Amino acid sequence: MSKKVFVISASPRKGGNSDTLCDEFIRGAQEASAETEKVFLRDKKIGYCTGCGVCNSTHQCVQRDDMAAILDKMVKTDVIVMATPVYFYTMDAQMKTLIDRTVPRYTEISNKDFYFIVTAADTDKSMLERTIEGLRSFTEDCLPNPHEKGIIYGTGAWQIGEIKNGPAMRRAYEMGKQI
Ligand SMILES: Cc1cc2nc3c(=O)[nH]c(=O)nc-3n(C[C@H](O)[C@H](O)[C@H](O)COP(=O)(O)O)c2cc1C
Repeated sequence: MSKKVFVISASPRKGGNSDTLCDEFIRGAQEASAETEKVFLRDKKIGYCTGCGVCNSTHQCVQRDDMAAILDKMVKTDVIVMATPVYFYTMDAQMKTLIDRTVPRYTEISNKDFYFIVTAADTDKSMLERTIEGLRSFTEDCLPNPHEKGIIYGTGAWQIGEIKNGPAMRRAYEMGKQI
C-alpha cells in the first residue's frame, strides 16, 4: 500500500523557499508512488488557540475554521512534513499557531514519520538548530511514538527563489524519494 504524505507549508510566501522545497520533496515522494497532499497555511483560516480548555473533554475545538480538517489529515496520514521559514531564530507564527491548535487530538498523531524543512537567510546551519528544537518540542516531546526521519536545511536563501541555486533542492527531492 502506498504511503500517505501530508506536507504542511507554513511560509506566508507562496512559491517561497520552504514552499519550493516542499514541492521538491513531493516530486520525489510521488516518484516513490506515495499519495501526497500539501496544505498551504496562508490559504487557510486558523485562529489562535485561546486556551479555553473545552477540547480537553470534547476533543473538538469550539472554533469553526479550517483546523479540524487539517488535524484530521495529520491523524490519518503516515508521514508529516513540517516546513517553515526561520523567523527570528524560530518557526514562523503560522506553524506555531497550527501546532497549538492540535490540542484537541494531538495524542492521536501517533506513529508518524516526520521530516522538517527549514529555510533561512543565514548560511550557518547550526543557526537553524533552535528552529529544529522548537519543532521537536512538539513531535518528540508531545506526540506518541514519533519517528524523525530527516531534515532539509535551506540555508543562504533570503529572497524568493534563492533556494533554487543551492543543494537543498536535490536533498529535498532525494529525501522525498526515500520515504
Ligand atoms: C520576519 C522575518 C524574520 C526573519 N528572521 C530570520 C532569522 O532569524 N534568521 C535568518 O537566517 N533569516 C531570517 N529571515 C529570512 C527568512 O528566513 C528567509 O527569507 C527564508 O528563505 C524565508 O523562507 P520562505 O521563502 O519559505 O518564506 C527572516 C525573515 C523575516 C521576514
